[in-house]
Amino acid sequence: MLVSMSSTAGLVIPCKAAVAWEAGKPLVMEQVEVAPPQVMEVRIKIKYTSLCHTDLYFWEAKGQTPLFPRIFGHEAAGIVESVGEGVTDLKEGDHVLPVFTGECGDCSHCKSEESNMCDLLRINTDRGVMINDGKSRFSINGNPINHFVGTSTFSEYTVVHSGCLAKINPLAPLDKVCILSCGISTGLGATLNVAKPKKGSSVAIFGLGAVGLAAAEGARIAGASRIIGVDLNPKRFVEAKKFGVTEFVNPKDHNRPVHEVLQEMTNGGVDRSLECTGNINAMMSAFECVHDGWGVAVLVGVPNKDAVFMTKPINVLNERTLKGTFFGNYKPRTDLPSVVNMYMNKEFELDKFITHHVPFSEINKAFEYMIRGEGLRCIINMEE
Ligand SMILES: NC(=O)c1ccc[n+]([C@@H]2O[C@H](COP(=O)([O-])OP(=O)(O)OC[C@H]3O[C@@H](n4cnc5c(N)ncnc54)[C@H](O)[C@@H]3O)[C@@H](O)[C@H]2O)c1
Ligand SMILES: [Zn+2]
Ligand SMILES: [Zn+2]
Repeated sequence: MLVSMSSTAGLVIPCKAAVAWEAGKPLVMEQVEVAPPQVMEVRIKIKYTSLCHTDLYFWEAKGQTPLFPRIFGHEAAGIVESVGEGVTDLKEGDHVLPVFTGECGDCSHCKSEESNMCDLLRINTDRGVMINDGKSRFSINGNPINHFVGTSTFSEYTVVHSGCLAKINPLAPLDKVCILSCGISTGLGATLNVAKPKKGSSVAIFGLGAVGLAAAEGARIAGASRIIGVDLNPKRFVEAKKFGVTEFVNPKDHNRPVHEVLQEMTNGGVDRSLECTGNINAMMSAFECVHDGWGVAVLVGVPNKDAVFMTKPINVLNERTLKGTFFGNYKPRTDLPSVVNMYMNKEFELDKFITHHVPFSEINKAFEYMIRGEGLRCIINMEE
C-alpha cells in the first residue's frame, strides 16, 4: 500500500517562532528547529492562533511559575504535517485544534462521563517538555526552548501529543474555529456543562472578555432570562450587548460589595454565576452572589498560584454549590468536533468574538490589545 507522506516527515523543520526569553518582555521572532514527532505525538503546521489571557498570565509570570525561554500559545488551528509512531487516528492533512488539556482515552477520568481531567494529559502549566521523553521538541542552536501546556502554537510548526488534538470538520474555517480551541469552548461549556442554568433563570457573568462572553452565549442558548455582566472595564459593556447580556454592573460604581448589589437586583441572589476573570476577589463575589437553596457558582479564571479562596461554611450549608472547570468540562477529542459542528450549524457565532487581526510578525500587538483591555480575540495569521 502506498502511504502519502509529507516531504518533511522524519526531518527537523527549521521555522519561525515567537520566543519569550524573559517574563513580560516582548516576544522575539526566532528561527527554531522543530524535531520530528515521537511516539504518540503529531507535528502540526499552525495556520492561525489567537491570544488567551492564560498565555498572558504565564508570560507576565506574576503569581505563576516562571519558565523561560518558552514558546507560548494554546488557542489555535492547524494541519497535520506528520505523525509519530503509534498514532493511528490522525494523518497528514487532517485539520486539528490543539488543546491545553488532553484525553488519553484509557484512564479513569477519560472513562468517566463526569470528568475531562485526564490522568496522563491534564493541563500542566509548570511542564516545559513532552511527557514521552521529558525533552523539548524546540531548539535554537541546540539549546532547548520550553513548551507551554503541550501546545506552543506561537510557532509555524509545533509538536503535540495526539491525545491533545481534536480532529475537526475539514470544511470549518480555521481562521474562525481556532478560538474554539480554548476560550470560547471553555466559556460555552462552563455554562452548558457545569453551571447548567434552567430556562428562565438568572445568570451573573464576572469578566466580559471572550471567555465570559462565551459563557453568556451558553446562558442565552440555555434560555436564561437575565444575564448580568460584571466587569471593571466599562468598554466591555459595549461589546457585551452583542452577546445577549441584559444588565451590567461595574463594581467600581458601588460603595458596597458587588455581591450585595447582585443579591438586591435578583431578590436574594442569582441562580447561577460564572467567574471568568482570574481575580480572587471576583471568585469570592461570584460565590457570595448566588441564591441559597440552589445557587451554583462556577470558577473558570486561572488564579494566582498562591491565591486562597475564603467563605463562611454556612454559605455552603445553606445549599449553595461551588464548582470549577477546565475547558468547560469538554473532552477535547470526543466533544470538540461536535462543538465545531454546532458552529457550522449556526447555533452560535464566532465573528463577534474576533475584534482584531495581526500578522504573525506583529504578534506583540495582540499582547498590547489584551493588556489594554481592548477588544476580545485577536487572530494571528501565521502566514503573514
Ligand atoms: N478554566 C479554563 O479552562 C480556562 C480557559 C481559558 C481561559 N481561562 C481563564 O479565563 C479568564 C478570562 O480569560 P479571557 O481570555 O476572557 O481574558 P480577558 O482579559 O479577555 O477578560 C477578562 C475580563 O475580566 C475583567 N476583570 C478582571 N478583574 C475583574 C474583577 N475583579 N471583577 C470584574 N471583572 C474583572 C477584565 O476587565 C476583562 O474584561 C482568565 O483568567 C483565563 O486565564 C480559563
Ligand atoms: Zn486559553
Ligand atoms: Zn485519560
